[in-house]
Amino acid sequence: MVEHPDAAAPQSPLSPAPPPAPAPAPSPSPPSPPPAAELSASPAHPSAAQRARAAAIVAALPLPERIRLVSGASFWTTHEVPGQVPSVMLTDGPHGLRKQAGNRDHVGLSAAVPATCFPPAVTLGCTWDVDLLEAVGAALGREAAAEDVAVLLGPGLNLKRHPRGGRCFEYLAEDPVLSGLLAAALVRGIQSQGVAACVKHYAANNQETNRMVVDAVIDERTLYELYLRGFELAVQRGAPAALMTAYNLVNGQYAGESARLMREVLRDAWGYDGLVVSDWGAVDDRVAGLAVGLDLEMPGGSGAFDAEVAAAVADGRLPEEALDAAAVRVASMALHWSEVRAAQHEPDADHAAHHALARRAAAAGCVLLQNDGVLPLAAGASVALIGAFADEPRYQGAGSSQVTPTRVDALRPALAGELGQSLRYAAGYDPLTGASTPALMAQAAAAARASEVAIVLVGLPSRLESEGFDRAGLRLPPDHEHLLEVVLDANPRTVVVLVGGGVVELPWADRPAAVLAAWLGGQAGGSALADVLLGVVEPGGRLAESIPVDGTALPASRNFPGEPRQVQYRERHLVGYRFHDTAAVPARFPFGHGLGYTAWQVDDVRLTGAGTDLTVHARVTNVGARPGSQVVQVYVGRAGASAVARPAKELRGFAKVHLDAGASTEVTIELDRRSFTVWDVATKEWVVEAGRYELLVGTSSTQLHGRLPVVLESDDVVAPEPPVAD
Ligand code: BGC
Repeated sequence: MVEHPDAAAPQSPLSPAPPPAPAPAPSPSPPSPPPAAELSASPAHPSAAQRARAAAIVAALPLPERIRLVSGASFWTTHEVPGQVPSVMLTDGPHGLRKQAGNRDHVGLSAAVPATCFPPAVTLGCTWDVDLLEAVGAALGREAAAEDVAVLLGPGLNLKRHPRGGRCFEYLAEDPVLSGLLAAALVRGIQSQGVAACVKHYAANNQETNRMVVDAVIDERTLYELYLRGFELAVQRGAPAALMTAYNLVNGQYAGESARLMREVLRDAWGYDGLVVSDWGAVDDRVAGLAVGLDLEMPGGSGAFDAEVAAAVADGRLPEEALDAAAVRVASMALHWSEVRAAQHEPDADHAAHHALARRAAAAGCVLLQNDGVLPLAAGASVALIGAFADEPRYQGAGSSQVTPTRVDALRPALAGELGQSLRYAAGYDPLTGASTPALMAQAAAAARASEVAIVLVGLPSRLESEGFDRAGLRLPPDHEHLLEVVLDANPRTVVVLVGGGVVELPWADRPAAVLAAWLGGQAGGSALADVLLGVVEPGGRLAESIPVDGTALPASRNFPGEPRQVQYRERHLVGYRFHDTAAVPARFPFGHGLGYTAWQVDDVRLTGAGTDLTVHARVTNVGARPGSQVVQVYVGRAGASAVARPAKELRGFAKVHLDAGASTEVTIELDRRSFTVWDVATKEWVVEAGRYELLVGTSSTQLHGRLPVVLESDDVVAPEPPVAD
């Protein structure tokens, strides 16, 4: 492998990243982790008694039986110890249960038992709603519990490093605080039902290209501050009982074999004591994984590594205690689940209630990007509904997260039910390929011309995005862009609805009367969209990722997806709004942005507290005529000089409020020491640089309502970063 294959590539002045230099791995000083007892408090964690029983059982097992326990028995199940430890099931996934009958594939090709397909993470992320995600998590957990699933493989919370990433639809945000806090909410919900959530994919699984072999080369600060921070928050605020390692390597080692990631960071610094599971087929060197705490290899059934593990124990390369610790974690989880299952009072899931919740979540994740007042639709308006996605919705992504839904709501019948004869429909394109024809274009134009308002659904057909590959670019399919022009020429009162699991470039954005990002809405996405268009509910979302003007201008574009075996994160922190704000290259629609159907006033922004323990207060008033929701976002920026390169500002907290027309409330957002720290590569500690900061309080990353100066005293020393070498 060439170490820095593109060292001579032109650098923009705003991405002056030194070649990432993965440091050797001295022990970091862990920031005081929360006590283990606190982490093990959820109903999904094995109790002390269950752990003790598991330890006693494991201690009495011969070596081959202990080795058997630490890899699966089949695609989805663990081994039993007859009469002592039951076999249990782990299965996908992040926005709905995907339980396949028998020992089936893991790429979503064969059907699974019907389950509620909630909106995927791309949509849930845009809700910025911790309470809602906890409720969705509880429903996911309930469905898993009802199907006897011990571990649900989700949520996914890798950072959206580049919008072309193939699994962006499965990830929550471009920001680690938003991802981490929302993932923690999902985890708490799932685990309230006794089912273990499994946060994934630890760490830096930010692309699909060569995902099994690619080495993500990330400088230490960026790794800690961006790519690990979401997992840290999810672990500390959600206490997941399980965690999945990524396929890829990080700085030269497979993620699941890295002593730094697995032991020093996860177990020692964060105090994580749950089960660690490999991604399906991610194990490269089983002995190395066991040595650093990769407990369970999945899928199982082959026993491929058993002899190697036995030999490593025999010759002392693998301490027997490491194997036993892994076996005890697997057995504890299984014993715990068997007791939860036996005690279940409510064996069934309420699919009707879950469908209603999925509908609420889909509307809450819709982001209204612009609106000249055409939305919500005026009563009695004649409407042209254009786009085959209205009839055959794209509502989830493909791959391992693909759910067999209990039902699917399409937009067309939902709108027809309300609008009756005043609704005209034109397909515009083929829903599978996205391709159009002159005849389909002509029908679309005629429908648009004959109606007061046109609603046109465009986006990404399923063949353009899926787990397993990255998107080739950020534009809509050419026929969809052409269709937009045709419809806009026919009727400027056009509402563009964007469908798909990732952001697209919107070069035509100044033309439509409204643009609504509906993402992938889950099985109730169609009725949720009708609710939003008709104004039954407002679109409650805020962007969890920036929509760039030009994706090729993103600094990560120069190294995405990288070389076959190595991708260098040379853009360092300059991902998403951190890039747009620092480089003063505005996004087309900024992170945190989203309109509703009412109007807001945010004032009386002030600060209480001392040092780094601060509370931001803001008065939020719904000054419009309809109920609605607003998200107050707090960013921290360094105001004075810094020893290290920093983004202009970084999200450190947020609060979502729901208010009736005319109502007012005070929101409070707590900050703490970590809101101000940087990772110091010299001392391996989180440190606070003394001096001036600014707290920026906004309703998006660019719509700011208050700037609060803060001066911090600190004795911490931040090692200056080496000068940038081009
Ligand atoms: C995916 C995981 C998934 C697993 C099991 C893997 O290919 O990366 O996210 O949970 O398969 O289906």
